[in-house]
Amino acid sequence: MASDALLTVTGLRGGYGGKPVLQGIDLSVNAGDIVAVIGRNGVGKTTLMKTLIGLLSPMAGTIHFGGEDVTRLPADRRAKLGIAYIPQGREVFPRLTVAENLLVGETAGAGRGPVDYQRIYDFFPILKERAKQAAGTLSGGQQQQLAIGRAMIGAPRLMLLDEPSEGIQPSIVQEIARNVKRLNAETGVAVLLVEQNLDLIVSMARSGFVIDKGRIVARLGPEEIASREVVRKHLAL
Ligand SMILES: Nc1ncnc2c1ncn2[C@@H]1O[C@H](COP(=O)(O)OP(=O)(O)O)[C@@H](O)[C@H]1O
Ligand SMILES: [Mg+2]
Repeated sequence: MASDALLTVTGLRGGYGGKPVLQGIDLSVNAGDIVAVIGRNGVGKTTLMKTLIGLLSPMAGTIHFGGEDVTRLPADRRAKLGIAYIPQGREVFPRLTVAENLLVGETAGAGRGPVDYQRIYDFFPILKERAKQAAGTLSGGQQQQLAIGRAMIGAPRLMLLDEPSEGIQPSIVQEIARNVKRLNAETGVAVLLVEQNLDLIVSMARSGFVIDKGRIVARLGPEEIASREVVRKHLAL
């Protein structure tokens, strides 16, 4: 284990109703890093994210965050410790306004310092412009900004970002990558990114893990994750 590991996952098994999907996952994320978990549909990426945030209980293995064993902590406790979860499909509340959606994030991150809305609005000016508009009327890219903005409220140390490019126009994908990298640079938040989108992986991640059938089958260093050929090969496994 690296001494500056923020998240360390060891032998993690989990799934649904006693049926294992994750078959013993080992991975770690250092403070301030951007790490990708890449793999095809149905290999267990979302199951991994839900187990890390605490929506699914692991069948075996451990999850350490910031030096603390969080394996058995409920999701809200993990959120308060500084893990933010941006689910696949974003899951903003469509009938609530943009501002109300951010307020929901404030509840989740309560106790992690004063909420700096201005900072979120500086990052995503569209959220200020559309503050009173129902979130369901935003474009996919704007909803992704809202989901990330909502996660920023608790000033997290780690963001779990599940397929942010899904359903987003290709022209907007690079904008998401830029936003997340800027967030990482300015706040130091670490990012564990789950993706299948080649462009997003290559432009964002500094290292990666390849997952297949619930197992980590390869680790990709900085040069490999930056190589379109290497990443394409692993996505096609
Ligand atoms: N709620 C669920 N109940 C039972 N099985 C599920 C559920 N969600 C996903 N699965 C199964 O778990 C496996 C991994 O799914 P998932 O983690 O969503 O994959 P990925 O995110 O990599 O596409 C798949 O076989 C899928 O059918
Ligand atoms: Mg998924």
